[in-house]
Amino acid sequence: MLEKREVQEITEKIQSKNWKYHITTFGCQLNENDSEKIAGMLEELGFAKAENEQDANFLVFNTCCVRENAEERLFGKIGEVKNLKKAKDLIIAVGGCMMQEKLMVQKIKKSYPYVDIIFGTHTMQNLPQDIAKVLLEKEKVRDVIDIDGEIYEDLPIKRNSQVSANVTIMYGCNNFCTYCIVPYVRGRERSRKPEKILEEVQHLAQNGYKEITLLGQNVNSYMRTERENGKVDFEIDSFAKLLYAVAKIDGIEKIHFISPHPKDFTDDVIEAISKIDKISRIVHLPLQSGSSKVLREMNRKYTKEQYLALVDKMMEKIPNLMLSTDIIVGFPGETEEDFEDTLDVVRKVNFEQIFMFIYSTRDGTVAATREDQVPEEIKHQRFDRLKELYESKVEENNEKYIGTFHSILIEGKSKNDANMLTGRTDTNKVVVFEPKADCQIGDIVKVKITENHKWYFKGEIEE
Ligand code: 5AD
Ligand code: SF4
Repeated sequence: MLEKREVQEITEKIQSKNWKYHITTFGCQLNENDSEKIAGMLEELGFAKAENEQDANFLVFNTCCVRENAEERLFGKIGEVKNLKKAKDLIIAVGGCMMQEKLMVQKIKKSYPYVDIIFGTHTMQNLPQDIAKVLLEKEKVRDVIDIDGEIYEDLPIKRNSQVSANVTIMYGCNNFCTYCIVPYVRGRERSRKPEKILEEVQHLAQNGYKEITLLGQNVNSYMRTERENGKVDFEIDSFAKLLYAVAKIDGIEKIHFISPHPKDFTDDVIEAISKIDKISRIVHLPLQSGSSKVLREMNRKYTKEQYLALVDKMMEKIPNLMLSTDIIVGFPGETEEDFEDTLDVVRKVNFEQIFMFIYSTRDGTVAATREDQVPEEIKHQRFDRLKELYESKVEENNEKYIGTFHSILIEGKSKNDANMLTGRTDTNKVVVFEPKADCQIGDIVKVKITENHKWYFKGEIEE
């Protein structure tokens, strides 16, 4: 920990020089949430937020390693900022998931020696100390420890939105899907204590937040490891119970969660969703593949039939439910027949939203060692075929929205037209609409959908 005197010294230096920070975040919402905590720590140290990289004296890259393209983008970015460093005082820090891979740390040290600080997913909270070393002792810092770090509570946080907030409920993953690097870089599952989560949500509600998203690699196994190890001595010891407790907090009007795993989608969670109106009617249910053979080789622990049966059960028990999903095409050994099974599930389920990924080989995972990798060309062709099917479904689904009414939380001004407001339907579709005289950001308004623009709708606020 930094001594008070050191913090004061650094803060004075930062403020007297009017230094600013800029954070570039790659990857998922968990990383976004980490970046909000990084921003909180930096602002506490005296940095102000810069609008862009050129104006900043402290650049943070919060990395992702789930797919190869995020790595390539990172290296491009660090290469670009080298020249900025020649022109002014500039500290460069690279952190997050990719830095948990030893080879990546070596690559940064060798090819980008001007990077000042490297931190991992479990050392983010040391950033103020790391900055002190760079500023006071002119040292380079490599602060990465192995996975399974403890949970740090009460870090300061600077949130990106004033109405909608992410709340991480658990860290890590125990599932070891054979394509996925996450369990290797984020460590084993660890759940935050319910009282800490509820405290955070209460605090958000008191500060005007209306919408929260509960985050974790596998949210519906909340407290599972702790339960199995007999470490739970409080009442809220499952995801379903956490949902009820969060929903009781006054002021919070909408609750989302990502990502659940189909194999852990227990009946108590389905019941909780059906009973709690505040929970979004769109649930993310990652499919990954529609082929039972591929699913087995992915170690997903469900078959095509089990997935479809779960969908049927959820549809039956939760009125107006819609689903979104993740699908990977081109997993090693995926045949045309396997891929047809994926298309078949997409035709049957009518997903509201599909996040499509081309399989990306991740060193260290089981699937990376397979010799039957699918040729790039075939992967791309399958991706295009899936995309075509998905887009035709989007068109079909969107038409059903015209003329329907939705209660929408006003999130802010539209990025493309500052005269318009924007929000999302319960099913996560963006809606852009004209303001009415007395409405404000954070209000919930009734909006009628009037125009379909494929990836967003136009609407009108009802009187
Ligand atoms: N290649 C492609 N997609 C992947 N995902 C995870 N690992 C890989 C990989 N190696 C996808 C999965 C997951 C989402 C967050 O990223 O679909 O649900
Ligand atoms: Fe990766 Fe599977 Fe864990 Fe999700 S559940 S983070 S895909 S290993």
